[in-house]
Amino acid sequence: MTSSDIQDAAETAVTDYILAQETKDQLRFLTCGSVDDGKSTLIGRLLYDTKLIFEDQLAALERDSKKHGTVGEEIDLALLVDGLEAEREQGITIDVAYRFFATDKRKFIVADTPGHEQYTRNMATGASTADLAVLLVDARNGLMVQTRRHAFIASLLGIRHVVLAVNKIDLVGFSEERFDEIRKEFETFANGFDFETLQAIPMSARYGDNVTGKSGKMPWYAGPTLLEHLETVEVGEHVLEAPFRFPVQWVNRPNLDFRGYSGTIASGRVAVGEELVVAGPAKQSRVKTIVGAGGEVEAARAGEAVTITLEDEIDISRGDLLSSTANRPDVADQFAAHVIWMSDEPLLPGRPYLLKIGTRTVTATVSEIKHKINVNTFEHMAGKTLELNEIAFCNFALSSSVPFDPYEANHTTGSFILIDRMSNATVGAGMIWFALRRASNIHWQALDVDKTARSEKLGQKPAVLWFTGLSGSGKSTIASIVEKKLHIDGRHTYTLDGDNVRHGLNKDLGFTDADRVENIRRVGEVAKLFTDAGLITLVSFISPFKSERRLARSLMAEDEFIEVFVDTPIEECRNRDPKGLYAKADRGEIKNFTGIDSPYEAPENPEIHVKNVDRDPEDVAEEIINYLKGKGFLNGVETGNGS
Ligand code: ADX
Repeated sequence: MTSSDIQDAAETAVTDYILAQETKDQLRFLTCGSVDDGKSTLIGRLLYDTKLIFEDQLAALERDSKKHGTVGEEIDLALLVDGLEAEREQGITIDVAYRFFATDKRKFIVADTPGHEQYTRNMATGASTADLAVLLVDARNGLMVQTRRHAFIASLLGIRHVVLAVNKIDLVGFSEERFDEIRKEFETFANGFDFETLQAIPMSARYGDNVTGKSGKMPWYAGPTLLEHLETVEVGEHVLEAPFRFPVQWVNRPNLDFRGYSGTIASGRVAVGEELVVAGPAKQSRVKTIVGAGGEVEAARAGEAVTITLEDEIDISRGDLLSSTANRPDVADQFAAHVIWMSDEPLLPGRPYLLKIGTRTVTATVSEIKHKINVNTFEHMAGKTLELNEIAFCNFALSSSVPFDPYEANHTTGSFILIDRMSNATVGAGMIWFALRRASNIHWQALDVDKTARSEKLGQKPAVLWFTGLSGSGKSTIASIVEKKLHIDGRHTYTLDGDNVRHGLNKDLGFTDADRVENIRRVGEVAKLFTDAGLITLVSFISPFKSERRLARSLMAEDEFIEVFVDTPIEECRNRDPKGLYAKADRGEIKNFTGIDSPYEAPENPEIHVKNVDRDPEDVAEEIINYLKGKGFLNGVETGNGS
């Protein structure tokens, strides 16, 4: 070794040490339990004992404790945190409260999440970045359904360290037997979960026993206090040890000479000269420079925001993932994942959502709910939809391949959120388990005779006329006249009608939201195939939801999809009632009837908007034919005179 090697090695060691200190001195933990278990008191106690409460707050607390407190003359620590809790229990805000405190050994970030089942999504939010979970139980009650639920969700979210805080031990006479009973029961139960450490601690948050100071009342307990444990527990540095992952946030190109990729390192480390690969296209290059917050650096690690430049000019854009070449991520457009649903609107398989993974956003659908999980009993259940706070294991199909790691290996590159395309709200959180290989083994078979060849032979430009509107609005009547006119003109057509397709291909579907989504998804795919065959396809389905009409549109070429909104007021449809269905629905004999107890989302920008009151269907059909002519779909052939 040369002296510069030694110096390098020393520098690396020092850097490593500093980096380790920086990560080690912070612990993110989550508290789970309810007010009744003493959760607020416990957090209050931690803040109080670590002197994080300011003097004026303390004075106010003493006053309030005398006024509202439930603990006589003493300070009611629960009042510190309960204001927020009460607000949340009323459902006013659903956020997770984060609190900060520190000792000389560590900094702490506590995610305080409400305990009830309707707050599962909050717990998931708090748990996604936590290293450890404190599960609180009341020594009198022992393990509750919610304790099991919290343990399950913590394990699902990859929390590897758990503290079982057996609180209110004073109320069972500081009993060792009672504590052991609860501890053993939990250990047996938690066996199936992959926790690395499990520390049970008997405590009284109210009196401070074993929270920050050792209790004199439980000589039989030789373990650490809660704070001691939190200060010393080794949570590992998984993000640093994991392979290098860098989701590109933006391409920094101030001038032609500089092209840098900016973002936050999700995991691992990187150094100048190292070889990196862009997952997906699998293009490789070496790191030329790394620019950190304070200028150029030789190396960087997880959590740091940097700009990286490469030796070679390769095409990298926002959303790409730079990775170490030795250990590459998976790349697939189908995978299986656990999902926690966070929206009042149910998850519907087949419906397109936006899926955001790292810095990339793609369209995704749940192709199958493999099973739902009862969060209290962990039983697997069948399910067609997913309701608020439910958890399921699902197969996903994405509009394009994305790079990822299994969640188990990497929380950042293995998790995603689902976004509603209409409201832009976050509706779900997911954790990827594995790629579905079947997807990568099926390639699109390029055929010699293609859409162009077929449509040329037919002498026409294919299109989809998508009729949407209420039952009885006149969709099928109009579609049928349009088809007849086209047919007389020598056009090659086909009509897909809701009632007919539901006799065959979609025989298995009813009228729930989930079934309608699937109904439209399938007919959209069929319309796509017919268009590929060169046909002018008429689709006449209520197709009540914007999302699925949009999905169908996205399957066709830009100008091929012509949405025809047959806009007939429901009173008019009801008067016509050609099949007597409105009468039946009114009598309660048909459930989920569109416009009555199932919604119809009117199109906002249909290509053709037919206000269908007092109109002759022949005229409407003619209007549609004229539209097609105007757009060049019927070039070369004169339109006949209809009927
Ligand atoms: S869609 O909503 O999924 O697009 P689709 O067009 O296939 O519906 O089928 C609608 C037809 O099914 C209606 O024209 C009507 O004849 C019949 N039908 C039976 N039950 C219902 C219902 N609950 N809601 C709407 N249509 C129904």
